[in-house]
Amino acid sequence: MSVNQSLKPITIDTNSENHLCVGGCDMIELAKEYGTPLYVIDEQTLRSVCKEYKKSFEKYNNIKMMYASKALCNSAVTRIMDEEGFGFDTVSAGEIYTVYKAGVDMSKVLFNGNNKSRKELEMALDYNVGRFSVDNFYEADLLNSIANEKNKIADILLRLTPGIECHTHEYIQTGQIDSKFGFDLSQVDEIVKLIKNKYVNLRLRGVHAHIGSQIFELKSFSDEVEILIKEIARINDKFMLDLDEMNIGGGIGVKYTEADNPPNIKDLADVVAEAMHKYSVNIPTIYIEPGRSIISTSGVTLYTVGSSKTVNLDGKIKKYIAVDGGMADNPRPSMYQAEYVADVVNTAVLKERKKENVTIAGRFCESGDILIKDIELPELKAGDIICVYNTGAYNYSMASNYNRVEKSAMVLVNNSQSDIIVYRESLEDIISHDNIPSRLRK
Ligand SMILES: Cc1ncc(COP(=O)(O)O)c(C=O)c1O
Repeated sequence: MSVNQSLKPITIDTNSENHLCVGGCDMIELAKEYGTPLYVIDEQTLRSVCKEYKKSFEKYNNIKMMYASKALCNSAVTRIMDEEGFGFDTVSAGEIYTVYKAGVDMSKVLFNGNNKSRKELEMALDYNVGRFSVDNFYEADLLNSIANEKNKIADILLRLTPGIECHTHEYIQTGQIDSKFGFDLSQVDEIVKLIKNKYVNLRLRGVHAHIGSQIFELKSFSDEVEILIKEIARINDKFMLDLDEMNIGGGIGVKYTEADNPPNIKDLADVVAEAMHKYSVNIPTIYIEPGRSIISTSGVTLYTVGSSKTVNLDGKIKKYIAVDGGMADNPRPSMYQAEYVADVVNTAVLKERKKENVTIAGRFCESGDILIKDIELPELKAGDIICVYNTGAYNYSMASNYNRVEKSAMVLVNNSQSDIIVYRESLEDIISHDNIPSRLRK
């Protein structure tokens, strides 16, 4: 089974005390040592999926595997991805700085985004990032003038909107015509002409698209490849260029619940290869920049159960169980109704307690702060630890300090060892950026 088809990290296990373990570490002990909520990343799952991506795509001589750092960006994860031979798709000064400080070869970094600031473009040029994915006319002009000031040539791809609508939540669909990202195909000639005739500090290398995230339909990827490869051939022909790079964007979806049935990574690679050979004899250098399917499955979040409440809805009893985290550490359920699966960590209670249907609520002051609606779990009591699966991607990276709650810690587990990779914020961290104007000071 492909890692993205697994609901849980591949090292999930139960020890002699009937506690769930990940990476050989007892989750109850992790909760005791580091506190909750706690993000846990299983190194073995992460490295396995990297190897799976590389193996699946090795049929291309010229494949550039890029990790979409937006899914989870911190220094330790960056080191692992670097060791696994991935480059990095970055979208901000913060992500560029993280990979730079982690010692990454900056020629393996691509800078993406629909509104990169002058400051960010300057920094990216100073750090010699390998590729810029130019999103719009404004950026092309700005990047050209900054590169000119710095006497540099920026190697660019053009971010295109291929007009593909895929079945995923509208907030994570990006390839359709009505999108804030990229040039639509009718604008391509105009931007290519500008680059050819005016923007002498830009070197056009190829095209880029990203059709959306959490995609299960392989056909959407083959449609994308067809459009991009034909567009490269058309541009080369019309403008006498030799573009030979094609970035197909993010990776395949993952399994958040039993109902999810994503295709495996090899199938994705095969579909891309098939489309590529069908529509072209000249196979370009291919970039793929998966995020979710790289880091999601390796992550679980531990929470401690606190209060509970029952409501009588016309005779039907509904039970809320509140945990010590929620929408600030995992905004996905409240943002786009994302679904998750959880287990109680002390599995011994499975025998002792009856099962019941509950709603897992967060601790934040929003009615919409619900982590899981309707899940069957053994009767939970205050102090129980639960683990929510598949929280590696777009959880910490979208976390906030809503309600002035400190961001949670993250640990990396492997071979029964746990290491902190992101410290829990303190109350001092919470006020560290505040300033009281002198006239208000006591
Ligand atoms: C341009 C681009 N590339 C790659 C990704 C990563 O996609 P995924 O996490 O689905 O692999 C995203 C995510 O939205 C993106 O916007």
